[in-house]
Amino acid sequence: MPSDDKRWRIVETRMRRLGSRPDALIEVLHSAQEAFGFLDDDALRFVSDSLRVPPSKVFGVATFYHHFTLKPHGEHTCVVCTGTACYINGADEILSSIKAGLDVKPRETTADGKLSLLTARCLGACSLAPVATVDGAVEGRVSSSDLVAKLAGL
Ligand code: FES
Repeated sequence: MPSDDKRWRIVETRMRRLGSRPDALIEVLHSAQEAFGFLDDDALRFVSDSLRVPPSKVFGVATFYHHFTLKPHGEHTCVVCTGTACYINGADEILSSIKAGLDVKPRETTADGKLSLLTARCLGACSLAPVATVDGAVEGRVSSSDLVAKLAGL
């Protein structure tokens, strides 16, 4: 284990229950992220060694799925929907405005650790497109400038 942090025991126990097999990779990564909030190099290496899966494959899976994050989340989270209805209604412009105003790109956290920006395929509120959530609260018919101002004020 990378350290004597008790959370590694939780991950290891889960791994053992899954048979410590390479095909348990995604579930084990879920467990590690649940335990630590994100997947750092130690976690990826530990999973790779324990399941005998090449590090490149573990890294590939961890970066392919949007659910996984390699950095700690910020104090606040904004999710911008990039599904079809939101895309047509300006999701790209919203992301560009957030990048310009707050210097953060999707799947990143601002340098001050205040805000993590994520994207989603559909937040289930297409009639309100474009849609974003701020700390879990749904914002419909979002305007770029209003959202940037709201996020800057967090
Ligand atoms: S596409 Fe954005 S909420 Fe459905």
